[in-house]
Amino acid sequence: MDQFKGLVLSGGKGTRLRPLTFTTAKQLIPVANRPILSYVFGHLGEGGIKDTVVIIAPETGEDVKAFLKDGSKWGMELTYVYQDKPAGLAHAVKIAQPFLRDCPFVMYLGDNLLQEGIQEGMEIFKREKADAVIFLKEVPDPRAFGVAVLDGQGKVQRLIEKPKEPPSNLALVGVYIFSPKIHKAIEKIKPSWRGELEITDAIQELLNSGGKIYPKIVEGWWLDTGKKDDLLEANTIVLDTYAKRQIEGEVINTSISGRVQIEKGAVVRDSTIRGPAILGEGSQVENSFIGPYTSIGNGCTLKHVDIEHSVILENSFLENVERIEDSVVGRQARIKGHDKHRALRLMVGDYSEVEL
Ligand code: G1P
Repeated sequence: MDQFKGLVLSGGKGTRLRPLTFTTAKQLIPVANRPILSYVFGHLGEGGIKDTVVIIAPETGEDVKAFLKDGSKWGMELTYVYQDKPAGLAHAVKIAQPFLRDCPFVMYLGDNLLQEGIQEGMEIFKREKADAVIFLKEVPDPRAFGVAVLDGQGKVQRLIEKPKEPPSNLALVGVYIFSPKIHKAIEKIKPSWRGELEITDAIQELLNSGGKIYPKIVEGWWLDTGKKDDLLEANTIVLDTYAKRQIEGEVINTSISGRVQIEKGAVVRDSTIRGPAILGEGSQVENSFIGPYTSIGNGCTLKHVDIEHSVILENSFLENVERIEDSVVGRQARIKGHDKHRALRLMVGDYSEVEL
């Protein structure tokens, strides 16, 4: 069998994560200080993939390229393909086809964060000589996703995109493995009610024409990072899973408890930090409390701030904030308080200035 290629979808407008996505791609938003795309490429690399097509949008494509560069960090060669408008996942496969050629490929949506990798799915694909393996996860309310129905033997019977009345609670996670037969199926489908060529319809088409489709049920967590609360939840779960106690920066007159990561060049003085939490490179913290489930990006400054369960992106400045929780603050933002405040809950875009 030909070597598997990768296909990473990193386009779209990220409307549900505005204002952050006015200035950055949703796939580059960091979770525990690592852009989501870095987890995605980690998984593809572990799966032995050496060659990946990355679909990018005109609005955010340059940022994605600036982060992934030539892919050598993951031992991969990358080909970038622009998708002018969000015309659907199957449309993305269509424009990638000249580069995927006749190879089987792993398609990974760049805003999906999974605990487990792709290896087991690839094993199923090879063992069963499948035409597709779809990753599925049981969720309480699958109406916002593609949904699959399995028969008694666990084979895929039917797929439906965002059903009002879901016939099962198995959602399609944004990871798929395809044989080149998917390209023929895509040629046959028509845009859906939302005007997009749906990959779910293409898989149904493949099934109708006798294709062998196998499920891979995902046991670990799966996080869709589409909205502010999802992002905070993702940050919480990822810190819970991966944070370790590792202090590389300078700590002066500060109490640190639990799994706290302080990266090099960071300086913390006269403060308290309770993990799991992470403090990025070169950050400065003074007279502050950093509570559990907080990620502070590189180059941030916090003075007289009490913060918990929040994500602060790089190079932001926070001063005199009595209490901030459940918040997401963009890059290079400035938040300055004067008086005492009750708890603040913020969603603040890049380059914002907030005076309280
Ligand atoms: C897409 C797919 C859907 C899948 C979801 C996973 O939805 O169409 O089947 O369940 O990704 O994240 P979209 O993000 O385009 O709404």
